[in-house]
Amino acid sequence: MKTLLLQLLAIENFDVYLVLGILIGFGLIESFAGYLRNSKRKKGDWLQEVFSFLILSAVIKPAIVTAVLLLGNAFYSASANLLTDLTFVSVFFGYILIDDLLQYWYHRSAHEYPFLWKLHRSHHQAEEMGYFVSYRNALLYYIMMPNIWWVGLIVFAGGAKAVALGLVIKQAIIISSHSRIKWDTPFYKYAFLTPFIKVIERVIITPSFHHAHHGTSMLDNSSDPNANFGNMFSLWDQFFGTAKFQNAYPQEYGLQKKTKDDWKAAYFFPFIKSKDKESDWHKDFQLHKTANKEALTVSLIKGENYLWCACGKSSQQPFCDGSHHGSKVKPIKFTAKRTGQVRLCNCKATKKGPFCDDTHLYL
Ligand code: FES
Repeated sequence: MKTLLLQLLAIENFDVYLVLGILIGFGLIESFAGYLRNSKRKKGDWLQEVFSFLILSAVIKPAIVTAVLLLGNAFYSASANLLTDLTFVSVFFGYILIDDLLQYWYHRSAHEYPFLWKLHRSHHQAEEMGYFVSYRNALLYYIMMPNIWWVGLIVFAGGAKAVALGLVIKQAIIISSHSRIKWDTPFYKYAFLTPFIKVIERVIITPSFHHAHHGTSMLDNSSDPNANFGNMFSLWDQFFGTAKFQNAYPQEYGLQKKTKDDWKAAYFFPFIKSKDKESDWHKDFQLHKTANKEALTVSLIKGENYLWCACGKSSQQPFCDGSHHGSKVKPIKFTAKRTGQVRLCNCKATKKGPFCDDTHLYL
């Protein structure tokens, strides 16, 4: 094993070959398994994903790493090759753990802050999963991604081989977690295999764990777009309280709000804006508060799940329409205990959410 690893590390650009190999491998399996034949993916989806992958690999990453090397040599030349005295194993684990922690927080921030959400939203517009979905993000999202700058720093400090190996493993996990090849399904189906997946999913990101993050809303019990932000390891989600382990897959993918955006607006926002006035990539788009002080009486059906809007910006009050994306607020899911009319809070100050507790009378 050690010899094999050393031979691999000695091959020039082995990471590029392996990442391409992993992509082609997943692509072939998805094709032969019939996923692409039944695909709902439109031309704009493919254009965005392939274009984004090529620009990321051939322009953004090399440009950022080169910039870091130039800056490092100009201002901190004494730190060049700082890591060469350390063992490969320590550099590798140091690089990969910090890389994944940075990406966890960057990804989570992209769900919690409006501007970053606009750079990340196209990733969640995909209405089906697939091996290329991981490359759907705006150009600026990648330029600002701390991981790529971190790669530059480690390369500058002499850890290029550790970075190359880390990138291959990371891409294998990320491509697998976005793919439609649900390799973890048998582990949940057969009881004797379940203990293995319980260990695996607590270390790396599995397809069901990440698919839950891409599910449309929490309504279907297998989705939670406001959880599972990890990329390679599920460690950070567990540590920061955002892990939601699943043993099933979402029924629907994509965003609650459907907009008609051109792929160029998705990729080049904020430099190119959307023509759809309902899209938050449109130049005049504003998200307004729609909640007011009056409670709303709605009819519910016993046993049905509902999502109550907690952010106050939904166009379908008192229910959530996905407008909370790009903030730290998430809707409250509840199941109706009886069929009939109930008063749901619409001032969003209730202490008994989703139900009205008359707090609005004192506002
Ligand atoms: Fe989802 Fe308000 S729109 S919580």
